[in-house]
Amino acid sequence: MASDGQKPIILTVDDEPVILNAVLAALKQDYAVRPFKSGEAALDFLSKNRADLILLDYNMPPGMTGFEVLGKLQANEHWRNIPVIFLTGSEKSEDEVTALELGAVDYLLKPFNERSLVTRVRLQLELFRHRNNLEEMVVEKTEEIAYANTRLENINRKLEQRDRITLDLLAQASDMRDHDTGAHIDRTTAYTAVIVNDIVANPQGDYRIPENEGRDIIDAVKLHDLGKLAMPDAVLLKPGRLDESEFAIIKTHPTEGSKMLRDAIQKMEDDSLLRTALDITYGHHEKWDGSGYPEGVKEKAIPLCARITAVADVYDALTSVRPYKRAFTPEEAFDIIYKDAGTHFDPYLVEVLKRHEDEFREIAINHRDDLPPEVAVYQ
Ligand SMILES: [Fe+2]
Repeated sequence: MASDGQKPIILTVDDEPVILNAVLAALKQDYAVRPFKSGEAALDFLSKNRADLILLDYNMPPGMTGFEVLGKLQANEHWRNIPVIFLTGSEKSEDEVTALELGAVDYLLKPFNERSLVTRVRLQLELFRHRNNLEEMVVEKTEEIAYANTRLENINRKLEQRDRITLDLLAQASDMRDHDTGAHIDRTTAYTAVIVNDIVANPQGDYRIPENEGRDIIDAVKLHDLGKLAMPDAVLLKPGRLDESEFAIIKTHPTEGSKMLRDAIQKMEDDSLLRTALDITYGHHEKWDGSGYPEGVKEKAIPLCARITAVADVYDALTSVRPYKRAFTPEEAFDIIYKDAGTHFDPYLVEVLKRHEDEFREIAINHRDDLPPEVAVYQ
C-alpha cells in the first residue's frame, strides 16, 4: 500500500462529524483524506497545501455555503482545476444544476452509498489526470511546432537572402559586360522603383500594380540586360558607334536573355519573379508606336513592366557617359523623353515621370558613375 505522502489528497468539507468520519472510512485506504468542518478552514488549508479532489457539503451553518466555497475555488487560478464533488442532503434538482453550472464535476446525495462514492472519486481523479496529460501534451506539441516554425522561418530567410544575392550577382555580371562601373543597375532599379511605387499607390484604369507584383518588377528589372552575357566582346565593347550589322547583333540581346529565363521558368515550374524578368528582358526595347524590337509590338501589347523599364533604362542611358556621347543633364534627358511620349514611350508613364523629376535628378546624382571630372558634365 502506498504511504500517505504518495496518495492523492482529498479534502472533505462538512459540518457534520458523522459524515466526515464516513468519508474518511470509505476513502482512507487509497487516499490521504483531510477533513474540515467549514469552508473557511478548507480554503485556509488550500492556501498552503495542494489537493487533488474536494468533497463539498452545501449547508454548513454558520459559515460559508458550499456554493460560496465553490465560487472562491473557481475565482482562483491555482484552485479552479481541482475537481469538486458535491455531497449534500439537498434533494432539490435546481441545487444539482446550480452546482454543476458553478463548476462542480459531480453530485452525490447523503446518505451516500460507499461504493458509489469510491467509484466516483476514482473516476474523477482519472479524468483529471487524463485532462492534465492532454494539456501537457498540447503544451509540448505547441512548443515543438513553434520551434519548427522558427527553424523554417530561418531557413526561408536564408533562402530569400541567397535568392537576392544570386539575382544581384547575375545582374552585376550582365551589367559588367558593357558598363564598367556597375552603377547602371542600381540607378535603373531606383528609377523603376519610383514609377512602380507611384502606380502601386495610385491605381488607375489599366495602370494598377499589386504590391507583391511591384516588388517583383523592382527585383526583376536588374536582369533586363541579361542577354548581353551572350553578346560578342567585339560588338559589345566596341568604342564608338556600332554599324548596322553590329547593331543587328546587339538587338538580339532581349531574345538571348529571354531564352535563359524561359529555361529557368521551365525548371521552376513557373515563378512570378522569373516571369516578370522574362517580360522585362524581352520587352524593354519595344516602343509604344511599334517601332521597337525584337517583336515590334505596340502600346499595351507591351507588358507594363517592360514599358516602365524602357523609361528607366533610357533615362539612365541619356544621363550617363557612353563611348560615343557625353552625359546629358537631367533637364536634357527629360526633354528628350517628353518629346518621345506616344512614340517611344507610354504617355501615361511619361506623366508619372513628370511628377517625380526631383527623385530622378537625385538618383542620377547619388548613384553617379565614378568618372573623371571632364566627362561628368553635370553635378
Ligand atoms: Fe537592353
